[in-house]
Amino acid sequence: MPPELSPGEQLMAMASGAWVTQMIHVAAELGLADQLVGGERDCEALALACGAEADTLFRLLRGLASLGIFEETAPRRFALTPLAELLRSDHPQSLRQFARMLGEEHYLSWADLLRSVRTGENAFQHRYGCSVFAWYQQNPERGAIFDGAMTDFSRQETEALLAAFDFSGIRRLVDVGGGRGALLQRVLRATPGLQGTLFDQPEVVAPVAPPAELSDRLRVEGGDFFRSVPSGADAYLLKHIIHDWGDDACRTILGHIRAAMDPAGRVLIVEQVIPPGNGPFPGKLLDLNMLVMSEGGRERTPGEYAQLLESAGLRLSRIVPTASAVSVVEAVRAD
Ligand SMILES: C[S@@+](CC[C@H](N)C(=O)[O-])C[C@H]1O[C@@H](n2cnc3c(N)ncnc32)[C@H](O)[C@@H]1O
Repeated sequence: MPPELSPGEQLMAMASGAWVTQMIHVAAELGLADQLVGGERDCEALALACGAEADTLFRLLRGLASLGIFEETAPRRFALTPLAELLRSDHPQSLRQFARMLGEEHYLSWADLLRSVRTGENAFQHRYGCSVFAWYQQNPERGAIFDGAMTDFSRQETEALLAAFDFSGIRRLVDVGGGRGALLQRVLRATPGLQGTLFDQPEVVAPVAPPAELSDRLRVEGGDFFRSVPSGADAYLLKHIIHDWGDDACRTILGHIRAAMDPAGRVLIVEQVIPPGNGPFPGKLLDLNMLVMSEGGRERTPGEYAQLLESAGLRLSRIVPTASAVSVVEAVRAD
């Protein structure tokens, strides 16, 4: 937010943030950035390539350019900018699937935030009649966008996690709810000798094939963490899993891990741990996303993690911060 804005201008810009969510979402949906990889193009050619109407596409691009996403280089002619580059499908830091995810079922659920705040209930469930993960099972195209969005989201955190946390003492690591395995693959590449198991719902891991160079160190297993998790590992990683669920459900997941793990093993919960005070912190907004989208999910404070872990027969041993918003909440068996 530019500091020269008056309080009224700042609040107006914040209050109309939903417009920007949709503008970025539409650019991502149309694949506009992919169409500009070869260089700048005029609106008419872009409209033809993306299946849009030329004048409305121009208005969208002009609006986005005013935010630094795309640039008008000549009348009705547009090019990529550093922000627009991130909407390319093939960019190593791509956020295209994340932008596509936020503009539909997330967006519609956020429209019911008022109801969630009044009732404490999950807006997604109210609107769609089932949990978000059940809905993704029934809507595999949207599920694939969600899985891609999680990979996009993870990229921002993975390098910070590797820099802050030493995985080298671990023999076998299970990534519980590891999605398509981008994080686990990165950890295995950075940690010679480490064996890894990617564990997620069968339909999420079905398309995952370990790359040849990791084929002897990476196993892929489908299952349900409310029933069981792979046994015998000395570390269980849960990144953005515990924040998806209320305390009772978390106790079930952690209970299965406690029963399955090597007695001297560790549980590594990677989440945006809420700090005290009024300062800005992404987890304070992500917490509201969990309110809207999940069944009892929330971001938690260090004290809330300590209590939750204790109630699952585990003990919080330390919290390792990273240069990104996530920290590693490390726990061991309490007995
Ligand atoms: C918020 S995503 C996090 C994905 C990944 N750990 C990351 O940080 O990018 C939650 C993951 O939990 C998985 N999941 C949800 N319910 C599950 C269940 N009952 N058993 C196993 N995995 C589940 C989802 O498929 C999804 O990949």
